Amino acid sequence: MTALMDEKILLARFAQRLRKDVPLANLTTAKVGGAARYFLSAESPAQLAEDVSFLWANDFPFFILGSGSNILVSDAGIEGVVIHNKARLIHFDENGESHSICAESGAILITVARQAALSGLTGLEWATTIPGTVGGAVYGNAGAHGASMQQNLLLVDILHRTKGYLSLNNEQMDYSYRSSALKREPGVAVILSARLAVEKGDTERIKELLNEFSASRKQTQPPGPSMGSTFKNPAGDSAGRIIDSLGLKGTRIGGVQVSPIHANFFINVGGACARDYYNLIRLVQGIVEEKTGIKLELEIEMIGDWKEQA
Ligand code: EPU
Repeated sequence: MTALMDEKILLARFAQRLRKDVPLANLTTAKVGGAARYFLSAESPAQLAEDVSFLWANDFPFFILGSGSNILVSDAGIEGVVIHNKARLIHFDENGESHSICAESGAILITVARQAALSGLTGLEWATTIPGTVGGAVYGNAGAHGASMQQNLLLVDILHRTKGYLSLNNEQMDYSYRSSALKREPGVAVILSARLAVEKGDTERIKELLNEFSASRKQTQPPGPSMGSTFKNPAGDSAGRIIDSLGLKGTRIGGVQVSPIHANFFINVGGACARDYYNLIRLVQGIVEEKTGIKLELEIEMIGDWKEQA
């Protein structure tokens, strides 16, 4: 099929909703990367599911963009369709003593966690410092302060490419450190919403935890555009500690610098491009492997066309 025919099919289906050549840098927290060839906003889980079904049926490649906090978009951008997930409703449920939150996958995790805390519900305080959407956090088992999504997830509603609509429970998500059954099989399903467990808590204790986590984040993690932790922590150690121990804090390529505050954060100090990020990632990985034998694995996902860089 030619690109022109593809575009005709997309226009016939999405009409005014379809935008072309939409710059993505400002939709990511690192503020780098090229444009999406085609771009749609999905305002509800139903719309997200319909869009994805259509794209699967027509074999169009697509990427679902949440809050862009854990991705590095290539300078060449994304050739297929980017669906911006703006399905953000949050609903609190109470059933006798048991409490849960149902959040659409594009809901901002920090908002969900703060609303829970304000309602006197405990269990999600760890998530008040994590940028990203509920969908992204459920997919990647996001975590901080010794907790992660694995502790909260009750059910996730997904659309599966071959099996249709499904609800997966915590066990079926088969969580591991920063990974899940869905993450291990990328592209087979899209997350529509999730139900998270919380419980009635002591408001003073909740407030204390929020203050403690926010202070620890301010003290140990740098401000400025970045993707958060660049690498996963290798078993029993911290990627930040290892990079720091090799004297790499402050190392800079183009507009990207290994943060002098936390060595696993790579900061866009101004004028960076995705290639700078790529080059700094490879440089640090290379030095760490050479000096310690440890192969640091990316926590972030590289999206788009990276051929030029290979
Ligand atoms: N450390 C250094 N130098 C550094 C950075 C850290 O020596 O430049 C040392 C610290 O002093 C500490 C140890 O390494 O003894 C661990 O550091 P930290 O407590 O900052 O935690 P981390 O393992 O680097 C993890 C998560 C963060 C999360 C924090 C706090 C990963 C990859 N990172 O970081 O998650 O916020 O714990 O709970 O699991 C993220 O996933 O994007 C993220 C920011």
